[in-house]
Amino acid sequence: MTAMPAGESSQSPVRIRTLIAADLDAVIAIERQIPEAPHWKTADYEALLQPADAAPLCYITFAAEAGGQLIGFAAARLLLDGEQNICELESIAVLASARRTGAGSSLLQAVTERAQALGGRRLQLEVRAGNTTAIAFYEHAGLLREGVRPRYYAAPEEDALLMGREIRPLPGAVEKSPKIGLKEKPPRC
Ligand SMILES: CC(C)(COP(=O)(O)OP(=O)(O)OC[C@H]1O[C@@H](n2cnc3c(N)ncnc32)[C@H](O)[C@@H]1OP(=O)(O)O)[C@@H](O)C(=O)NCCC(=O)NCCS
Repeated sequence: MTAMPAGESSQSPVRIRTLIAADLDAVIAIERQIPEAPHWKTADYEALLQPADAAPLCYITFAAEAGGQLIGFAAARLLLDGEQNICELESIAVLASARRTGAGSSLLQAVTERAQALGGRRLQLEVRAGNTTAIAFYEHAGLLREGVRPRYYAAPEEDALLMGREIRPLPGAVEKSPKIGLKEKPPRC
């Protein structure tokens, strides 16, 4: 998938593709440069990047590349419980030098479209209440402020703003979603 950034300029076009295991070092290098991004253990990323299995828990990951370099990534979990089918955006980050060229929007669009194709009905996330850049970005993408989780984050302690929006599953996608008991530990897809 190749996406030309909104407000195209002389910069290289942004290419969006699925993250692969070979991206691990670059993803961690990007994350370490971005204080606002969630900081995960290497094992957490390795788990995300394992090959797909079967529904109902899907990990959705995308990379943004420009000029052959990884400039950003996004990671989400889609739980196909047959009811809400919530896609939770866990992380999205773009290198500071590559921002405001549409890479973040292209990543979020890719996550949304993949979730819709798999039967997702809702996109949601938590963001630090003081992360005004990310909040503006999510609002630009049509997500609404839906609530606050007080003192949700530590180091530094901060409220989480809950944001979300309904998304429309693609025709046929929901019918493929299995009903599961939530007590079961869901497999990956
Ligand atoms: C949030 C983030 C991913 C956005 O990436 P990006 O590639 O710069 O986003 P886009 O270029 O697609 O921006 C789309 C729109 O979002 C809004 N937006 C993005 N950055 C903004 C900023 N700093 N101030 C105000 N609005 C902003 C604008 O409406 C922008 O459209 P415009 O450039 O035409 O005005 C990036 O800023 C980032 O990596 N931040 C640090 C990590 C983070 O906070 N992640 C979220 C929490 S996990």
